[in-house]
Amino acid sequence: MKAIRGATTVQNDTAEEIKECVSELLLKIKEKNSLSDEEIICIMFSNTADIRSYYPAKAAREAGFISCALFSSLEPEINGALRKCIRVMVLTESNLSAEHVYLRGAVNLRKDLIGKLNIAIDGPAGSGKSTVSKLIAKRFNILYLDTGAMYRACALACVRNRVDVSDGESVKKLLDKITISVKYEYGAQVTLLNGENVSDEIRIPEISMLASTVSAHESVRIKMVGLQREIARLNSCVLDGRDIGTNVLPDAEFKFFLTALPEVRADRRTKENVSKGVNQKYEEVLKEIIKRDEQDKTRKIAPLLKAVDAVEVDTSYMTVDDVVNYITKNIQGKI
Ligand code: DC
Repeated sequence: MKAIRGATTVQNDTAEEIKECVSELLLKIKEKNSLSDEEIICIMFSNTADIRSYYPAKAAREAGFISCALFSSLEPEINGALRKCIRVMVLTESNLSAEHVYLRGAVNLRKDLIGKLNIAIDGPAGSGKSTVSKLIAKRFNILYLDTGAMYRACALACVRNRVDVSDGESVKKLLDKITISVKYEYGAQVTLLNGENVSDEIRIPEISMLASTVSAHESVRIKMVGLQREIARLNSCVLDGRDIGTNVLPDAEFKFFLTALPEVRADRRTKENVSKGVNQKYEEVLKEIIKRDEQDKTRKIAPLLKAVDAVEVDTSYMTVDDVVNYITKNIQGKI
């Protein structure tokens, strides 16, 4: 089931104009989503209190939406809200991605729904990027692209093919023979190496350091960044990584750089490891995190770096909810 959002406005509170605008909005939603009448389960409207002349649901029935359930409700009066506005939610059987429709005075209402939204979240290991990015993606109903997983898959390919991750020439040759891609299952990213799901295998601690080393080669970055840009071009998504704001999507409208004290990051990673049944001492994790930071920050190509226009968030003493709410507010304040 899919929920399609939409809204429109009327200039005058007359039955004629309400009928015309509701019909226009619903027909556009039907057309843009290639919906048949049978696929529409129900249509729910809400309208601002300055619309009194006609029920939008009645207008929908008269526009030919006769077999689905219809409902209209009144919105509270909110200071500064768009005037004479009719909002709609159409529930459908369709599984295609929803094309939301905002017309007339409502065109700028939900840029997050109708425009493409790319959110860059960079930072070092353990700063909370992936947890926060997943939740932000959920909140905005967009994809989450874990770019680190792609470098991890490169590292795994090297291990499987006995290629030394620090040998740029051999890595380059290997890259020509393998494919790395991602797909989404129930909204979650699945990372594929030559078509095989390696999402779990790339998470083992040994791969982390190898991924950091392999990611420093130009050939690797060119290939992975190309893939990442293509996904971001086609989809609204949250991308997390090290160089998203500086290199992958330097024009992204929303950029965040998460940091946290190394001790806090090591503590988080150790606990995460325990929950996955991985046994690695805190001291060892801390040492590795510091070493990996250094390697990621000092590499020549696209190092780990805060973009000048990124918002820095020190998550050391913030809960996950705090960080997610902070980022959400920041994004919503701009759209
Ligand atoms: O986020 P992660 O721990 O899964 O990333 C693994 C390594 O991949 C990281 O140490 C550096 C590299 N990486 C990168 O160079 N650029 C990115 N955008 C993401 C990760």
